[in-house]
Amino acid sequence: MVSATLIHTLGFLCLTSAFVIPSRDGFPDPNSQQLLDIETKADGLLSNEPPPPALSDAGIANFQLIAFNENFEVAFFSSLIENITNNVPGYERAPGLKDTDSLLEILKTVKAQEELHAITAIQTLEHFNATLVPEPCTYTFPSSDLESALSLAETFTAVVLGTLADAEKSFAENNDAGDVIRAIASVIGQEGEQNGFYRFLLDRKPSERPFLTTSTGPFAFSALQQFVVSCPFNVSDIPIPIFTPLNVVTTPEARDMTLTFSADLSGTGYAQNGTSNGDLFITYLVGQQVPITEPISNVNYDGSVITFDALFPFSENIMEGLSIAALTNSSNFEDADDVPANTIAAPGLIQVNDLLARRGRDQ
Ligand SMILES: *[C@@H]1O[C@H](CO)[C@@H](O)[C@H](O)[C@H]1NC(C)=O
Ligand SMILES: *[C@@H]1O[C@H](CO)[C@@H](O)[C@H](O)[C@H]1NC(C)=O
Ligand SMILES: *[C@@H]1O[C@H](CO)[C@@H](O)[C@H](O)[C@H]1NC(C)=O
Ligand SMILES: *[C@@H]1O[C@H](CO)[C@@H](O)[C@H](O)[C@H]1NC(C)=O
Ligand SMILES: *[C@@H]1O[C@H](CO)[C@@H](O)[C@H](O)[C@H]1NC(C)=O
Repeated sequence: MVSATLIHTLGFLCLTSAFVIPSRDGFPDPNSQQLLDIETKADGLLSNEPPPPALSDAGIANFQLIAFNENFEVAFFSSLIENITNNVPGYERAPGLKDTDSLLEILKTVKAQEELHAITAIQTLEHFNATLVPEPCTYTFPSSDLESALSLAETFTAVVLGTLADAEKSFAENNDAGDVIRAIASVIGQEGEQNGFYRFLLDRKPSERPFLTTSTGPFAFSALQQFVVSCPFNVSDIPIPIFTPLNVVTTPEARDMTLTFSADLSGTGYAQNGTSNGDLFITYLVGQQVPITEPISNVNYDGSVITFDALFPFSENIMEGLSIAALTNSSNFEDADDVPANTIAAPGLIQVNDLLARRGRDQ
């Protein structure tokens, strides 16, 4: 723990943009008065149902990922609230709103709600004596103004929505208690309410698709790594794979088009310099469709970095909203959960959104 704390401190000193959750409200270990204050801000109490009688190993891993993600979300919304409160350049005005007062009020409630989501996962892990209960890490965010922050919030929330649905599948398949499934379903709806609001501020339709895009634990866990500077625990001790990032180089549009992707394949066993590789594919998750696989072409290696093209089959599949791409070594997947075991790099997060022709925007 001493060395982990030291690494934590050094990480903070070296990277001035590294963000640590302020401990003013006692999160993640509030005393009873602090908890009541958080619950008051969140407009509701933690569940007082007894813990489930048992939780599978997969269920423990699901809650480790949920805690890891919710800690990140608390950090993100804390940083966003600070930036708006302090009138950081780029954060003075909200797209589509007259002022930032109501947005700030909403985000403070969201932050408290995310804290209660995190505390629920942490308490569940503690109850079952999990060997690792993720504490908050030190973070960095790519957003530099309110619009990019809302867009990022919308994307990570969409990934979380798809991942929580996959956690539900895992709980069911591992005979975990129905109470757990119901509690997580209440969080899925809650995060969906948030996302409708972010989408509307971004001039997107609040309801994204008839069936939201499925994700998987490994894709969500991999995506979260880009925001983590350092953690006071070994992130690899959470038993979920972390893939090398898949970059979507082309800006996707609402039409059939070729997308260029890149990934650094060092350490994957696929970093050889080849000019063609017929054995690799891009596999897309979108909605509740079975995974869609496209061959890759124009393969180039620059050292261990591979660049290649693949079709984005928009029209046939109506790929509005979030699509999640993975570089895979096989095709013909029957289920999203089969994809991670055959993934080389992921996720590539693709967003195509039908914008509202809204007038009178005050920005
Ligand atoms: C808050 O502002 C800092 C720069 O001042 C920026 O690095 C960070 O990404 C911003 N946070 C969010 C959530 O946008
Ligand atoms: C957790 O550990 C404590 C102390 O060893 C034990 O009393 C308790 O039964 C354990 N809980 C579970 C759910 O196994
Ligand atoms: C972190 O955990 C992984 C997997 O459990 C292990 O291989 C690695 O050596 C650990 N790293 C450190 C710094 O302890
Ligand atoms: C990869 O192979 C191609 C074709 O043989 C060659 O032109 C290129 O220089 C090689 N690149 C590297 C980084 O070795
Ligand atoms: C694909 O990659 C996985 C994980 O590295 C490996 O287990 C599997 O054998 C590979 N499949 C093929 C067809 O190469």
